[in-house]
Amino acid sequence: MLTEKIEKILNRQVEREGYSSLLYLSMASWAEASGYPGIAGWLYAQSQEELDHMLRFVHYINDRGGRAVVPGLETPPNDFEGVQALFEAVLKHEQFVTASVNEIVAACVEENDYSTHNWIQWFVSEQIEEESNVQEILDKLALVGSHNMYMFDRDIMSMRSEGEAPEGE
Ligand code: FEO
Repeated sequence: MLTEKIEKILNRQVEREGYSSLLYLSMASWAEASGYPGIAGWLYAQSQEELDHMLRFVHYINDRGGRAVVPGLETPPNDFEGVQALFEAVLKHEQFVTASVNEIVAACVEENDYSTHNWIQWFVSEQIEEESNVQEILDKLALVGSHNMYMFDRDIMSMRSEGEAPEGE
């Protein structure tokens, strides 16, 4: 059984993962309309992955005797200055999500909830991987420069991880 505090912070994460999915969907749409099909493909896949993250939280809360609440979501930004600015925004958002996951870990310790503490470790690993993937993309962008966006767009899908944290499920 979840304590009220853990149920609340897990439901906050349902909202944040859902928003992540919408944000990347909005970015994907921008990239597709701007003539970057590869970048759009990367972002559509990322959006789907965030939806999977949201569902993991929903199922976990319900399985542990709580009740997951599906929130209304804020409208994400839908215009971006360019590819570089877009991926900088992705990295910033993932850093925010990492901080949010760390707050769940801290709450688990405070509440002596070792089951949730154990369960959330998958997300701790996943966040390390997500931040590092986006950093790699930014490094590559710095290397190719804006004059070679065609190649970058063609190759970006090969930089996608499978969306599984090292430990698996
Ligand atoms: Fe589910 Fe990218 O955080």
